[in-house]
Amino acid sequence: MRYGRIPDETIRRLSTYMRGLVGLFHEGIEKVSSTALAEALHMNPPQIRKDLSYFGAFGTPGVGYEVEKLLNHIKDILKLNNTHSTALVGFGNLGSALLKYPGFSPYGLDIVAVFDDDSAKIGKKINGIEVEDVSRIKDLEKREIRLAILAVPANAAQETTDKLVEAGVRGVLNFAPLYLKVPKKVKVITIDIATDLARLPYYLPAG
Ligand code: NAI
Repeated sequence: MRYGRIPDETIRRLSTYMRGLVGLFHEGIEKVSSTALAEALHMNPPQIRKDLSYFGAFGTPGVGYEVEKLLNHIKDILKLNNTHSTALVGFGNLGSALLKYPGFSPYGLDIVAVFDDDSAKIGKKINGIEVEDVSRIKDLEKREIRLAILAVPANAAQETTDKLVEAGVRGVLNFAPLYLKVPKKVKVITIDIATDLARLPYYLPAG
């Protein structure tokens, strides 16, 4: 199903709603009100109702939302009802930790290819996945891999991104601490733990 233009902020919150709904689903809860969902996620109910209204009305007034139905609907919106093969570039400290993390596959996001430029790492096998030379990035389109996680040093990030884009990648989760230049058709999401951490001392009690 196609939806109209949806604000990026709404898309970001949908993945948070999904995380809450997955928890409720595993607890065996079948129905949830927007108020209860908002409480569980520390969000506000009108915001949830507004976000969900972009996709039509799913809730029944006074009863709330059917958890499984809403979960499937959000997965459908986020295109998570199919699995997405994902490439990882940079098999260093961060890359190897990400490859071991089991928390991506419940969302249908599987790291199926790993690339590095270090000959000492190329050819190593981890959980059945072989680290490949970066020159093989060019084959990603043929392998139907359109998402990538970027965990290379900052000075290699733009050049690597250009290679990924040329190879048909349309979504990049970037861990390198810089803004990447990409064509409009490509979505980059940059994760920066350091700047999030840097906001935290502000909330410490004055001492
Ligand atoms: P690392 O040095 O342990 O690993 C980098 C890997 O990239 C190495 O295996 C290296 O051989 C490979 N590499 C270097 N140039 C390459 C190229 N042109 N093509 C392919 N592979 C290449 O570094 P670490 O600690 O894993 O960090 C990786 C990146 O993630 C860095 O940019 C770092 O700043 C960033 N980072 C970001 C965090 C965040 O919160 N966003 C947290 C930790 C790291």
